Amino acid sequence: MSKLRIALAPGDGIGPEVTRACMDVLDAAGVLDHLEFFEVEMGERVFAAGDSRGMSDEAIATIEETGLLYKGPMGTPIGGGGKSINVSLRKMYGAFANVRHFQSLPGVETVYSKAGVPVDFYVIRENIEDTYGGIEHRLTNDVVECKRLISAPGSDQVHRAAFRLARRLGIEKVHCGHKANIMKMSDGLFLDRFHVIAKDFPDIATEDVIIDALCMKLVLAPQDYQMVVLTNLQGDIVSDLAAGLVGGLGFAPSANIGNHISIFEAVHGTAPDIAGQDKANPTSLLLSGLMMLRHVGMLKQAGTIENALLKTLEDGVHTGDFGDRATASGTSAFAKAIIERLGQWLGEHPGVAVPEEDSPSVERPERPTTNTLIRTFTQVRSRPVGADLYLESTLAATELAQHMKRLSEDTPFELTMMSNRGTQLWPSGSIYTECVDYWRVRFELRDRSREMGQGPVVALMNKIAEKFPVVDFQPLKEFDGRRGYSLAQGQ
Ligand code: NAI
Repeated sequence: MSKLRIALAPGDGIGPEVTRACMDVLDAAGVLDHLEFFEVEMGERVFAAGDSRGMSDEAIATIEETGLLYKGPMGTPIGGGGKSINVSLRKMYGAFANVRHFQSLPGVETVYSKAGVPVDFYVIRENIEDTYGGIEHRLTNDVVECKRLISAPGSDQVHRAAFRLARRLGIEKVHCGHKANIMKMSDGLFLDRFHVIAKDFPDIATEDVIIDALCMKLVLAPQDYQMVVLTNLQGDIVSDLAAGLVGGLGFAPSANIGNHISIFEAVHGTAPDIAGQDKANPTSLLLSGLMMLRHVGMLKQAGTIENALLKTLEDGVHTGDFGDRATASGTSAFAKAIIERLGQWLGEHPGVAVPEEDSPSVERPERPTTNTLIRTFTQVRSRPVGADLYLESTLAATELAQHMKRLSEDTPFELTMMSNRGTQLWPSGSIYTECVDYWRVRFELRDRSREMGQGPVVALMNKIAEKFPVVDFQPLKEFDGRRGYSLAQGQ
């Protein structure tokens, strides 16, 4: 029987120690009878050798061939051209859904464990879009912007991945966290798509929850949640909040799921302060390995190892980062304790189900021959109806408005609104609104029924740019007759 192939990157700092510990456990549980791991070179050594990608050509070829990567933490060089490999990998390979499981573990004392409140939920975070495109510009002396992009197909992918996982895990209810009350278009789209995709999973209940309320509710009653799906930045923050509920980042596994390539990794870093000392806790990487086993259908081995880990923790075996320091075990002794408990029944903890053995497999589409264009709305009719021009100016609203009206006099457009930091100041506004040197000036067609291309809008911008620095430009469009732009606060 041929084995399923997986790329293995031990990483930097404590990476090799925790990876060895995890591989020993996987081996003892019989996982290596079904999976073959290929070690690849990634991380600090590759950066130091002058490769700003932080991974060798061979590593890239192996990851692309296997479609699965099990990785330890990797250091990102501070300064210089090197970018975080962890972030680059997820984006480059389209690993669009970050899956993290947060559960109370026996022997790991938290506020909730002491109160007898069980914590067991998943956070599914969109991994590619949002402000994580890092598209930033300094627009004026005083203002910088970061573009926050949310796409319909990007949202669909992460919602579908969440619902599929929920169904596989027997999760009954999925929440969508958002801020659609303020970001009506971007978070509104993410939320709309959640409800649309949910229709394909009628067996799963849904609820949406505003992100700030979600944070409070997760702290007050984490037991009310089974799975929450979130946009990238909100998901990033909620993930760490959730890690705090179960005892810290050392206990939180993470999977990055894509159509072609999926990455399973510990969420903590390289811990240079304890590297090479046999002190590191391998739990996060081991739990990530269990997510990987379940991803490829090795439910029996995953269940057996998870129960052995739970029993080890319940028996009070622990590394130095939690529990009584005087009785702490080293990384290798901790792994040995897990191995000794493989196949044992748990004590008080109910443990997890151990299904029958199944041969591992993973569904993977053909290797694409060109970059895939993902789309959701293909039949939309859009038409330009005006433009928002962004100007650098320290003039007062009324004075700037006079200039704008004069400059647009003999064009198809009329000035309809001006705002500063999103708050309307013309045609009306409050004298108490403080302004910065960055104005949004909105022009709309005088005759809304008129059909036009982009040309007249660009001509208007050119005319204004002769007198004022235009720092940004956004066409205003209708999509199937519906406004494709937000109104200013107070408009
Ligand atoms: P860190 O997570 O490496 O360390 C923070 C603290 O937690 C340290 O005191 C460390 O000893 C402790 N710690 C972390 N993991 C532990 C474990 N498994 N067992 C016991 N103690 C543990 O975060 P830091 O110091 O901010 O980052 C160090 C390096 O790691 C940086 O180069 C950073 O870029 C990289 N990093 C890599 C990540 C990844 O590969 N996914 C994630 C986060 C950071």
